[in-house]
Amino acid sequence: MSGGLQAIRYTRGKLEVLDQLRLPHEHHYDTVSTSEEAFDCIKAMRVRGAPAIAIVAALAHGVELNNGGCEASTPQDTIAYIDSRLDYLKQSRPTAVDLSNAITHLKSVVRAVDVGTLDAAAAKSAIVDAYMAAAEDIFTKDTHTNLRIGAHGAEWLLTNAPPASKSEQGKLAVLTHCNTGSLATSGHGTALGIVRSLHSEGHLSHAFCTETRPYNQGSRLTAFELVYERIPATLITDSMAGTLFATKIRERTPIAAVVVGADRVVRNGDTANKVGTYALAVLARHHGVRFVVAAPTTSIDLHTIAGKDIKIEERRPEELTQISGAVVGEDGRVDVSRTARVATAHQEINVWNPAFDVTPADLIDAIVTEQGVVVKGESGEFDFRDVMPERW
Ligand code: MRU
Repeated sequence: MSGGLQAIRYTRGKLEVLDQLRLPHEHHYDTVSTSEEAFDCIKAMRVRGAPAIAIVAALAHGVELNNGGCEASTPQDTIAYIDSRLDYLKQSRPTAVDLSNAITHLKSVVRAVDVGTLDAAAAKSAIVDAYMAAAEDIFTKDTHTNLRIGAHGAEWLLTNAPPASKSEQGKLAVLTHCNTGSLATSGHGTALGIVRSLHSEGHLSHAFCTETRPYNQGSRLTAFELVYERIPATLITDSMAGTLFATKIRERTPIAAVVVGADRVVRNGDTANKVGTYALAVLARHHGVRFVVAAPTTSIDLHTIAGKDIKIEERRPEELTQISGAVVGEDGRVDVSRTARVATAHQEINVWNPAFDVTPADLIDAIVTEQGVVVKGESGEFDFRDVMPERW
């Protein structure tokens, strides 16, 4: 496990999830033992990030099965029970496709179990065992996937960053949005994994991260990860990105790339990610900054043709009109033992709170998967055939 920070702790029969709403002030793990607990944990965003959501849902149902939660006695009823729990979990958050891809995979795994000559009890336990192995596999494979994304992304950037954006030592400065690190995955991270890989190879001059309004995944989580790993980094508000790009060009130390994650990349390359990503892509194009999406193939949805068909989750108004944090004393010191929730807007104002936006493929230079980097071909379009031959 790279990075040290662990959003998800798991041993068979026990799942613990780091409560990300309490970060960076408090390091508290919740035990998640049922589908209902996982649903609440995901919906409330105590765990978030496309891969982490899928892992927690898959493992939580595994814990439930392992602990005797399924009362069915026939193989058909066992499969029906697993289906119903997974269908329920799928409703927790709609935009990230990793959860739905994981569920499709788990359903096919339990259907593929050969129960031919087994009695009912043995058949049930074979189905449960197959489910457990597949769910655990999703968890353990994820870090490996991210390490490969990190390596591919770092290499692509070093080759394709605008020459003027490289320092004399060949180092690059990048901007990232939201949180795509160890906290959003089983380890290392996707877009933040590329930042980590650049840093560990000595190729990162500086990382900038956005605050990521309204829920502050950038300031609460990414800033925390960057400080935790001692990666040279600076926090900006979302609205400062344009002036960051322009200032750095004037100072002759341009930002090389914006590196973001994905909740759903569709067949034409349009990408849903944390709201604010689209604006960064427009600004990046204007300033000649590369725009790179890091997406494991589990975040790619080849069934949806274009971004206009992606369902965008809308969340509670209070995420805009209220904020929580640790109390700052008269002396300016942060008292992590005291947290408070405060209002930051008139509570009667109308609020629109889409959690994600869609960046058109046209504004994306490269999509980095664990299988390699996808760029537009001669047709000017992304083609995922090479990285996902079996699902194409
Ligand atoms: O609402 P969140 O915090 O779940 O949104 C997370 C993002 O948008 C991430 O960029 C995405 O899920 C990729 S995480 C590797």
